[in-house]
Amino acid sequence: MILSVQEIAALFKEKFYNDPRLFFSPGRINFIGEHIDYNDGFVMPAAIDKGIFFAVAPNNTNTVNIYSAEMHEELHIALHDIHKIDGWKNYILGVIDQLLKRNYPVKGFDAVFGGFLPVGAGLSSSAAVECGLAFALNDIFDLNISKVDITLICQKAEHTYPGVQCGIMDQFASVMGKKDHVLLLDCNTLHYDLLPFNTDEYAIVLINSKVHHSLAGGEYNVRRQQSEKGMQLLKEKYPFAKTFRDITPQQVKDIKATFDDADVYKRCLYVTEEIERTQKGALLLKARNIKDFGELMFKTHEGLSKLYNVSCEELDFLVDRAKEHPEIAGSRLMGGGFGGCTINLIKHDKVEEITCAIVKQYKEKFGIEAEVYSMRLSDGTHIL
Ligand code: GLA
Repeated sequence: MILSVQEIAALFKEKFYNDPRLFFSPGRINFIGEHIDYNDGFVMPAAIDKGIFFAVAPNNTNTVNIYSAEMHEELHIALHDIHKIDGWKNYILGVIDQLLKRNYPVKGFDAVFGGFLPVGAGLSSSAAVECGLAFALNDIFDLNISKVDITLICQKAEHTYPGVQCGIMDQFASVMGKKDHVLLLDCNTLHYDLLPFNTDEYAIVLINSKVHHSLAGGEYNVRRQQSEKGMQLLKEKYPFAKTFRDITPQQVKDIKATFDDADVYKRCLYVTEEIERTQKGALLLKARNIKDFGELMFKTHEGLSKLYNVSCEELDFLVDRAKEHPEIAGSRLMGGGFGGCTINLIKHDKVEEITCAIVKQYKEKFGIEAEVYSMRLSDGTHIL
């Protein structure tokens, strides 16, 4: 469902007879650096022009009333009774819980939210919801929280309520993104650079496999545990290593025999390779060399599929078809994986023709109507 900011504002007035403040919280894409935000790597995400609108106003009570325009569901809960429920409610409740735990003076409020961000498509609708709410509450209650702290609060909310042990990439991109720029984020220090992304030649196109992914399902957390286990072993063998950054893929290969779990070995190899690729990718992007940058994206997909095992038949198919077109510089699954979108860099004048062909082949093979979205890079969460 696509909802405009006007529709969200109108729904708010209809439900709460009040004038709200309006906010936009974007989804994110990620060019390269997948599954390495929680593995001490660099990532290269960007906020996009598709996201969630929030209409929010204090209600001078101690109750929170929220309406999800997409799900057509309401939540009414007293501030002294915040607890986990399920689904979208946990993203909201997790944020409120974190703010209260940190003693921010949050009072009762009314809110309506919705927009255009397909859930489970790898565009981080969860971070958009969390960050949009935290940003709005920061604004209406003058909480004085810095933007970076908003990202950390929302990450913690996701760990504690929905229970996904995510890294910082999604929340950081959603809040800190800048129009026409990519963030090069060091996930260890949270230091970041903004690199202009030139879309003159190539369009950023997502193809949604419509295979629904849910990171709350557990496999994401398993990857995280396997990487941690691998890092422990690497530290024993290479005592100088503090993080994956200090290890090369060759050093992982050199001690292959000492891994008693083949999956853990593969995860470590992927992570070290991806850290190298992201660093190379940043240089290529700065040099505006999209062609070679795209080659790295294909390699990332291969790693995600064969070593990190977070792809699926449908995503592999979409990337294989993309490889057949020289006008596509790069393509790979994007986000947590197990479904969702591929991100593709496609020559502008070929977007229509190529995506139609791929969507048709995909339909023939899987009987699923894939969706195609062209993306623009936008500013992070902001008041409207
Ligand atoms: C999800 C998580 C992020 C990141 C990606 C994979 O989107 O929320 O923190 O780990 O998966 O790169």
